[in-house]
Amino acid sequence: MKKVTKAVFPVAGMGSRFLPATKASPKEMMPIVDKPLIQYAVEEAVAAGITDMVFITGRNKRAIEDHFDKAYELESELAARGKEELLRIVQDTVPKHVNCIYIRQPEALGLGHAVLCAAPVVDDAPFAVLLADDLIDADVPVMKQMSDVFHDYECSVLGVQNVPRAHTRQYGIVSTEAESGTVQRLRGIVEKPAPEQAPSTQAVVGRYILTPKIFDHLRRVRPGAGGEIQLTDAISSLLEEEAVLAYQFSGVRYDCGSKMGYLQATIALARKHPEVGAAFTDFLSRFSATRPT
Ligand code: UTP
Repeated sequence: MKKVTKAVFPVAGMGSRFLPATKASPKEMMPIVDKPLIQYAVEEAVAAGITDMVFITGRNKRAIEDHFDKAYELESELAARGKEELLRIVQDTVPKHVNCIYIRQPEALGLGHAVLCAAPVVDDAPFAVLLADDLIDADVPVMKQMSDVFHDYECSVLGVQNVPRAHTRQYGIVSTEAESGTVQRLRGIVEKPAPEQAPSTQAVVGRYILTPKIFDHLRRVRPGAGGEIQLTDAISSLLEEEAVLAYQFSGVRYDCGSKMGYLQATIALARKHPEVGAAFTDFLSRFSATRPT
């Protein structure tokens, strides 16, 4: 089995839950403290040894392309002012050995359709998919954990975590062969089931390693939940042909596609931030002590 060297970042969604912030720029460019969500995801992929980053972009693609590109004017301005540290930050948004590839998704027809847009570049190799709005704070980057699982089992791996039963409608929910264990073989997967119909409370969050067979299934699936081409439906179909694993990753995941998750991530990461962490933590404790009840 080939190594995972390519990662697909679908960034063409509407981001409607964050309007008007997402009117002119993708939600993946929203910062957590001082770094956009997409950069956290790219850094996670780099930590897993991935070298080709494939962005599936939509109407606001410029901001992401510019973020990972050389910024000539800004760099010469910073150099002229002797701002070496800021210059390094601007130049290091992506390591030199990494390639960035941009593919346009002409219409936001769903996550499955976005992943299918990567087929010409991914070709016949296993690949990772990272949804940057799921930010996962982990000691060992989650995609690195998953590529180790892929290395051991050589089949598709889905990152899963337990969610409250009342929330199953927001996720793809898996059923597995074993009741427990970090790595489990998938029996089935359904998109956004009602709590009473959900086969479990194990939800797929935005991390996948998929074999290229998934593209055949994506080409065949019909629009599913919400009228969109669902990646979940293609994985369900792939299961009839190949084993797929659910992997309970270690780490804390923040759903930064929702306002609540975004705010939680901001507070959690701000408290750890090397520059402002201590002062912000101090502010928070004074803030909660003085806040009116
Ligand atoms: P979401 O379900 O979070 O949808 O997409 P969204 O449109 O971005 O956000 P809301 O619900 O309107 O606020 C999950 C991921 O799939 C990408 C999104 O960019 C996000 O990373 N996506 C979704 C696409 O790239 N293309 C699509 O057609 C749909």
